[in-house]
Amino acid sequence: MKRKNKYQNKMPDANQNTKVAKIGVVLTDPEDWTASAFLKTIEKRGANALPINLSTLSASISGSDFSIFHTDLNVKELDAILVRDIGISFSLETISFKFDLLRQFENSMIVMNSPAAIQNAANKFFSFYLFKLARLPIPRTVVTSELEVALKTIEKFGSAVVKPIFGSQGKGIFKLERSQSESELASKLAKLLKERGVLYLQEFVPNPGRDIRVFVVGEEALSAIYRVPRSGSFVSNLSQGATPVKCELTEEMEELAISAAKAVGADFAGVDLIESEEGLCLLEVNATPSGKGIKLAFGIDVTGRIVELLFERLEDKK
Ligand SMILES: Nc1ncnc2c1ncn2[C@@H]1O[C@H](COP(=O)(O)OP(=O)(O)OP(=O)(O)O)[C@@H](O)[C@H]1O
Ligand SMILES: [Mg+2]
Repeated sequence: MKRKNKYQNKMPDANQNTKVAKIGVVLTDPEDWTASAFLKTIEKRGANALPINLSTLSASISGSDFSIFHTDLNVKELDAILVRDIGISFSLETISFKFDLLRQFENSMIVMNSPAAIQNAANKFFSFYLFKLARLPIPRTVVTSELEVALKTIEKFGSAVVKPIFGSQGKGIFKLERSQSESELASKLAKLLKERGVLYLQEFVPNPGRDIRVFVVGEEALSAIYRVPRSGSFVSNLSQGATPVKCELTEEMEELAISAAKAVGADFAGVDLIESEEGLCLLEVNATPSGKGIKLAFGIDVTGRIVELLFERLEDKK
């Protein structure tokens, strides 16, 4: 018998002392499809959904006091936080303060996904180390600040994808080939090294001209889409003009995607897989994924299951 959930009903009922849950939704754009779906789904479920942009939070510390505050939101009243989007920021200070705020919240409430999982997933070097520890199939990857090492790596891989370690939406991703002249490669790599300070080089995985995005919530893979890049591109992010196409989830896809999400510690995730000649290969895990692609392709609103998982966690915590 499912235990009664004290957060069930919105309006407090005098004789049942039910409490309306207050769920903070960390976002940067309330109009974003996934952010607004989270807000609606939480409200529909009978709780209060409170949009929070981390840039509007402040913290004060003294010898005797520590508090996080917001001009018109009492953060102490929150029962849990659901993270849609922390916001891209190129200043280390800003991004580290935002993660510190989430870690502070985690001392007193559930934060889903946890800041650790979001950081693990966003870091393409460290996440690959976690995938290796979990013995998951990943393309060979080299990270270096040495031009010589980078040139040798392209020579070894034949065709290499260069991407930012903290990348997203397919931005700043290039393919470099052994067939290109050494001087051309050297000048391209030198330019990238100057901009980024470090190079992330990954063997290009020959594939059927698409990748797969699997949506995982808890221990379940809800559904998957193929993403077909626009012609002339190998980058199949929807934000780069790729097209979402229905994909039948196979057991192999489910197992790999669920293990990948677990490897970074994510409760929900968008997992990118690619079909290589040797079988499925893991490209990355997104711990702040958009649910729009799956909605467009299948009409499935993944936020419902995510919010359910959050309330199950709240219940378990009781
Ligand atoms: N090693 C590879 N071999 C073949 N294609 C690749 C490889 N790495 C990346 N791609 C293509 O580029 C796309 C973007 O790469 P990746 O997912 O690693 O970066 P991203 O910018 O972080 O994306 P996201 O927005 O999903 O976080 C992949 O979806 C895939 O289509
Ligand atoms: Mg990706």
